Amino acid sequence: MVGTVKEISNHGAGLGYRQELSENLASREHGIDVVEILADQWMSPGSLGQLREISERFDTVTHGVAMSLAGAGRIDTKYLERVREVVEVCQSDYYSEHLAATHIPGIDSQHLCPPIVSAESRRACVRNVKQANSALGVPLAIENITYSISTTSDHLEAAKFFADVVVDSDSLILLDVANLYINSQNHRFDPEVYLSQLPLERVVHIHLAGGVTTSTGKLIDSHSESIAEGIWDLARNTAELCNPRTVIVERDQNFPDADVLLEEVATARSIYFDHQ
Ligand SMILES: [Fe+2]
Repeated sequence: MVGTVKEISNHGAGLGYRQELSENLASREHGIDVVEILADQWMSPGSLGQLREISERFDTVTHGVAMSLAGAGRIDTKYLERVREVVEVCQSDYYSEHLAATHIPGIDSQHLCPPIVSAESRRACVRNVKQANSALGVPLAIENITYSISTTSDHLEAAKFFADVVVDSDSLILLDVANLYINSQNHRFDPEVYLSQLPLERVVHIHLAGGVTTSTGKLIDSHSESIAEGIWDLARNTAELCNPRTVIVERDQNFPDADVLLEEVATARSIYFDHQ
């Protein structure tokens, strides 16, 4: 596995590519090392030509939301074929997905649901990751999600489950720092202890994002606000513990001027890459 991490290129810091940002990004390419392509947005017939143009303008990494790695059934082979097309157009050296269930046979939750923490579920997750690995031809980087309910109240157990799936499937990690921060605040655990359970030498990719606070004080991972200071602080701590190849600022709504996002990208770049 260490060899696999070494084979991943240094992509640098950038943004999740969104159509709403495309015009603004065209004139600011100098501030972006890489854009993250959401594969699920590029699966309609005929969209790959435009994706090819983007991949010629920017260094790209690829990411998805609907593989359902923690689902009970096998992964849809037609979905994997479409993801593989995106991976090939972007010439990705890895592909990232959430350790989550988005559907079970016959039901689409339209939502990232946390995995059931059990030995049987772990075996199913590992089997699914291996199926995806061989179908895509590149290693998977597995992402930690936010959750409002969990099948275990022991968050160390949840961290251990995540780590076991990563190690047993010989995968990489996408560490979403915002997701970890939000979970630690909403469920009252120490993010540093959670991190201590993970094989951080496998982290190749970081996500950062800003969310909202509800009237009851709960944090929501809405990707709609500037990144909060608590998340930047946790990012600085994680930069001491891992050497990612890619750092992405995620923004999906309430888009500010591109200069605001590029400032966040510059901060992320300095946190993770200035000391390397
Ligand atoms: Fe994320």
